[in-house]
Amino acid sequence: MARVLVTAHLPGDGPARIAAAGHDVAYRDEVDGMPREELLARVAGSDALVAMMVDRVDAELLEAAGPQLAVVCDVVVGYDNVDVAACTERGVVVTNTPGVLTDATADIAMALVLMTTRRLGAAERRVRTGEPWRWSFTADLGTGLRGRTLGIVGPGEIGLATARRATGFGMEVLLSGRSQPDPGVVSGLGARVVDLDELLAASDVVSLHCPLTPATHHLIGAEQLRAIKPTAHLVNTARGPVVDEAALVAALESGEIAGAGLDVFEDEPRVHPGLLGRDDVVLLPHVGSATLETRTAMADLAVANVLAVLAGDPALTPVNR
Ligand code: DGY
Repeated sequence: MARVLVTAHLPGDGPARIAAAGHDVAYRDEVDGMPREELLARVAGSDALVAMMVDRVDAELLEAAGPQLAVVCDVVVGYDNVDVAACTERGVVVTNTPGVLTDATADIAMALVLMTTRRLGAAERRVRTGEPWRWSFTADLGTGLRGRTLGIVGPGEIGLATARRATGFGMEVLLSGRSQPDPGVVSGLGARVVDLDELLAASDVVSLHCPLTPATHHLIGAEQLRAIKPTAHLVNTARGPVVDEAALVAALESGEIAGAGLDVFEDEPRVHPGLLGRDDVVLLPHVGSATLETRTAMADLAVANVLAVLAGDPALTPVNR
């Protein structure tokens, strides 16, 4: 009988299915992430760990778990919370949940494109806070999307799904990043693959979809923000540290860019105080994949990985091979 630690609440019946397969499940059925000390204590002796984005899986945790740990199933697509090299060195399989959250995350990226270009955050706040308002022909003017250019940084599945949505709004699409999108998909979108400099200079909205790696940490810093048009907007549904948040605040303050729509932050849940009071930013609490059906599908995929590895079968979605 294997021991499986699930660090937080999972929608669906995943923990029950792990138990029905004959394993001993330590299920912490709580909405919030597991405190670090508790995680280090409870992971000891586990054969499988079902981890959330907020659980740091590093050498310290692997040490605390013990040499029997066989698999870490991260319920997330962006697995930057896991030290994959340290897992691989110890023979621990790491899995993530690609594919099932593509549409939900692309929907939020498109929502942020609309919210920031149409200044909807500030408008909604004004109505909600009871500030006097009346219809005006010239107040609250945003910018439309038809004929404008969306620059997708990171043309993986989510980036391309966002691009598809944007073409429905009449936007032109530029793509840039390490993934090499299928040429048929690129031409189907009427898009062009360009380098980052060209994308930044030509886009009316720059939307980030790359994973967080050492190479993408602060990929968008002061220099890149200067390269973006002063009328353009930045959208980030990827990972906060892809953007140098202090440089973003400075760029907004100096009018180097027109606005930003952010679902992720450099040091979550902290948000840079320079962003909080600004009407030209829209701030969401990392809800990219937050629909019940998506989170259920993510949980089910993580559980399928647990069951496969514990049965001696290959993982469905391994990130280390
Ligand atoms: C992911 O899966 O990477 C999301 O950011 C978590 O919601």
